Amino acid sequence: MKRREPTGEPAADKVILGIDTSCDDTGVGIALGEKVLANVVVGQTALHDRFGGVMPELASREHLEVIDEAVQQALAEAGLKLESVQAVAATHGPGLVGALLVGLSYGKALAWGLGVPFLPVHHLQGHLAAATGVQPPFLALIASGGHTALFAVHEWGKVEELGRSRDDAAGEAFDKVARLLGLGYPGGPALAQLAATGDDHGVKLPWPMAGSRELEFSFSGLKTAVALLLERQPHVAAADVAATFERIVVGSLLEVTRRALERTGMRRLVIAGGVAANARLRREVAALGEELGVSTTFPPPALATDNGAMIALAGRLVLAGSDQRWQRYDASAALATDASPYLPLA
Ligand code: KG4
Ligand code: ZN
Repeated sequence: MKRREPTGEPAADKVILGIDTSCDDTGVGIALGEKVLANVVVGQTALHDRFGGVMPELASREHLEVIDEAVQQALAEAGLKLESVQAVAATHGPGLVGALLVGLSYGKALAWGLGVPFLPVHHLQGHLAAATGVQPPFLALIASGGHTALFAVHEWGKVEELGRSRDDAAGEAFDKVARLLGLGYPGGPALAQLAATGDDHGVKLPWPMAGSRELEFSFSGLKTAVALLLERQPHVAAADVAATFERIVVGSLLEVTRRALERTGMRRLVIAGGVAANARLRREVAALGEELGVSTTFPPPALATDNGAMIALAGRLVLAGSDQRWQRYDASAALATDASPYLPLA
C-alpha cells in the first residue's frame, strides 16, 4: 500500500468510508457526496439477546472480530478497491468506550496507512446526516436507543440543543417494554409489529409530562406503568399493551416536536435515529407536517438505525469544515481524537 500525505482540502466530493462501532452493531458504509455506495451492518442481536441488553465487553470483542470482514464486504458492495478510498470517517463518541475504540482505532490506522484524511464524527451528527436531501435550517428530532432530543440545526456547523429526555430514551423505552412483554432484544421492531394487531386504547397508561410546556421528554414513568399493569393484570392482551404504549410514545414525541416547531418557527423537520424506522411515527409526523405546512424528512429505514454510511455522510461535513466541532479541518488533531463516551453534540 502506497502512502500519500493527507491534505484535508475540502475539494470535490471524495469517496469516504465510514465506520460506526458505538454500540452493538458493526457498521461500515461508503459514500460519495450524498450518494451511499455501500452500507454493511453486522448485528450482534444473537450475542446479547439472552442478557436482555448490550453487554459492553462482548460488544467490543465482536467488533474486533468482524470489522475487517465488514470493510471488505462494503468495498465489494461498492465495487471499489481499498486504494479508491479518499478519506476514512469513524464515530468517536458518544457510545460504549470499548466499542468506540475498536472502530476509531481501526479507522485511524486505515486512514494513516492509506495516507488519506481521518474524519472523527459525532454519532448524532451521523444520524442527522443520514437524512440526505434537506438543507439547514431545520428542526431535528433524534430518537434512538441512547438519545431522545430536539435540535435546531441553524447551519450544518451551528447546532443548538432545545431539549431532551430527562430519563429514558424513546428507543430504550421500546426495548424495556418489549422485554416486559417477552419480545426479546432489540425490542422496537418486534413491539411495533405486535402493536399493529392491538387496540391502541385497549389499556390505561399515563401520558408523559402531562400539562408540561417544556421541550422535554420522559419515558421511564410510562415504562414503570406498563410493568405495574402487567403485574396486576397478567392476562391482559399483550398486543393492546403494545399498541397503547406505542400510541403514547409517538404521541408524546409529536406533542413536544409540535411545540418546538411553533416556538422556533422552523419550516423543515427531520426525524432521525432508530425510532425513525417506526411506521406509526412516520405516519403521524407526515400528517403533522401537512397540518402545519412544514416539510418532513426521514432517513431511508436502512440509514435510520446505526450504520457506517451515515458516518461517511457526516464525515463529508467534517472535511468541509462544516461540522459543529470542526470549523477548519486539522489532519493531526483529527488523528489525535480520543473516544468520548459522553460527548455532547451542542
Ligand atoms: O439509532 P439506533 O440504531 O441506536 C442508537 O444509537 O441507540 O436506535 C436503536 C433503537 C432501539 O432502541 C430500537 O428498539 C429502536 O431504535 N427501533 C425502533 C424501531 N426500529 C428500531 N423503535 C420503534 N419502532 C421501530 N420500528
Ligand atoms: Zn444511534
